[in-house]
Amino acid sequence: MADTIESFAGQDILSVDQFNRAALNAVFGVAHEMRVLVERFGGAELLQGKILANLFYEPSTRTSSSFTAAMQRLGGQVIAINNVQYSSVSKGESLPDTVRTLECYADVIVIRHPEVGAAATAAYYADKPVINAGDGIGEHPTQALLDLFTVQEELQQIDGLTVVMVGDLRYGRTVHSLTKLLLNYEVSFVFVSPEILRLPADLIEAVEASGHSCRQVQDLNSVIGEADVLYMTRVQRERFTDLAEYDRVKDFFVVDKELMARARRKMIVMHPLPRVGEISYAMDDDPRAAYFRQMRNGMYIRMALLAALLGKA
Ligand code: ASP
Ligand code: CP
Repeated sequence: MADTIESFAGQDILSVDQFNRAALNAVFGVAHEMRVLVERFGGAELLQGKILANLFYEPSTRTSSSFTAAMQRLGGQVIAINNVQYSSVSKGESLPDTVRTLECYADVIVIRHPEVGAAATAAYYADKPVINAGDGIGEHPTQALLDLFTVQEELQQIDGLTVVMVGDLRYGRTVHSLTKLLLNYEVSFVFVSPEILRLPADLIEAVEASGHSCRQVQDLNSVIGEADVLYMTRVQRERFTDLAEYDRVKDFFVVDKELMARARRKMIVMHPLPRVGEISYAMDDDPRAAYFRQMRNGMYIRMALLAALLGKA
């Protein structure tokens, strides 16, 4: 396991399982420096001459554009394949051949794909570092890193917090990665979802086996007052085979002013975004609404990771 920033050079980032507390502290330290760098100078020339290939088989706004911005703010350049239907993928080219092509031109490959394990497959065939930007319902490790960095920056602590995760805990890959990452800390978990969207059993078992306090409930009202971190998620429509089932659960939870009147004064509301109704727009002015700041943190985390993987952190 890489646990100093130097030891990340040349590595892939496929799962949060690769990170322990030492590694997290190292990445967060560099991300913090990247924030200062961007705020003072807009960026640096650390990755001049380096090229990132952004390979997206699924839609993205934040992950794709924040990796692009991260690379460009560090002086590097980007090959964007955000629309695989216009690439040779639509002629039937395989994932292994696609990544072997891109690594002829780029120094690092970022991939998002609908299948669990696709990033690991890409990494198997590529010699250059591969970063998992979401593999189906599997993981979204860089999102979990930016989520945890946000908690640390906003609340100045992670140990001792109660984290309430809400919504699509079954298909939400950001929840899967963040839950695993939080096992490195002394937190209590409350998982709030409709019955059919509960956290997968293997993850519940991992949480319980690690000795963390954990409850699964269906009613957000009854637990909102406990939350230090309220982590909202979108119901992942694209993962449902039966859209009638999606319709039944899509509007289960809405964070609005009425609900937030029962929340602590010092707490944060997070969301990986995009939101499709789970958080009312009226909430955006509430100082506890951290989701826009969270999104900005994504660029700093990705700047830190790119610098680390390319041996320049
Ligand atoms: N953007 C996140 C993801 O790709 C969350 C979401 O789409 O709901 O996993
Ligand atoms: N949070 C996130 O992954 O957003 P995108 O799907 O827009 O990349």
